[in-house]
Amino acid sequence: MTTSPNKDERRMYGDLAWLWPIISPPEDYAEETELFSRVIREHSRIEVRTLLHIGCGAGHNDHVFKKHFEVTGIDNSEEMLKLARELNPEVTYCKGDMRTIRLDKSYDAVAILDSIDYMSTVEDLRNAFVTAYDHLKPGGIFLTYVEECKERFKQNKTECSTHSKGDIKVVLIENGFDPDPEDTSFETRFVYVILRQGELEVQTDRHICGIFELRTWHDLLKEVGFEVKEMKLEHSTFPEGEHLPMFVCGKSL
Ligand SMILES: C[S@@+](CC[C@H](N)C(=O)[O-])C[C@H]1O[C@@H](n2cnc3c(N)ncnc32)[C@H](O)[C@@H]1O
Repeated sequence: MTTSPNKDERRMYGDLAWLWPIISPPEDYAEETELFSRVIREHSRIEVRTLLHIGCGAGHNDHVFKKHFEVTGIDNSEEMLKLARELNPEVTYCKGDMRTIRLDKSYDAVAILDSIDYMSTVEDLRNAFVTAYDHLKPGGIFLTYVEECKERFKQNKTECSTHSKGDIKVVLIENGFDPDPEDTSFETRFVYVILRQGELEVQTDRHICGIFELRTWHDLLKEVGFEVKEMKLEHSTFPEGEHLPMFVCGKSL
């Protein structure tokens, strides 16, 4: 597979968005989203009725969040928002970039979950945190978590998984590679082997994601004004004893 060095394709959120509910179905998000809902409730100093979910994707987390909160979702992909609206017609969705969007409203809680991965410079990460801070009510909670960081990254880690829905079968190969460990980004490449209607097709994709030291997350969150608490995100699918760092951030009253 050859691709130009710096091109961020992200077809998974574009022309290949139809694959998302097959390779990453809503039920896979249930356990983590119940936990996020509980953590938000337990740490907030105000009653949590409204939640702003930034980088909501196809609304798979929202499918659970909406049982607990009145949800507003933001994403910068029209294709993902279309899927989200179909899955959660009762949720309000808007198109926007997490680094710059400003809605004329504040919320009891704000979450940026797996979409924070796409902040690939310190400036982008800070801007996303500022967006969260600006939309959060005093006393409320901002929740985010870290999928990759400098301390944990494994060069050339490759995973293969199989998925199916109806008569469509997908083999997904995912590879993480950091061509320059000195900077704050790395690449995730995806190969999708798709079998549908008796025809086999192969598609490729590349995402540029951010990778920072955990210290940078702490420093930026504090700099933006949050009271920061690091917790462990545990999940039944993680290998024994493994967790991801999760930040539960308060805004003073
Ligand atoms: C892994 S998907 C999120 C999936 C989501 N958890 C769900 O429940 O379906 C990551 C999402 O981040 C969005 N995203 C990436 N960069 C963004 C940005 N700068 N602003 C807003 N959304 C962004 C992508 O469009 C994509 O939908």
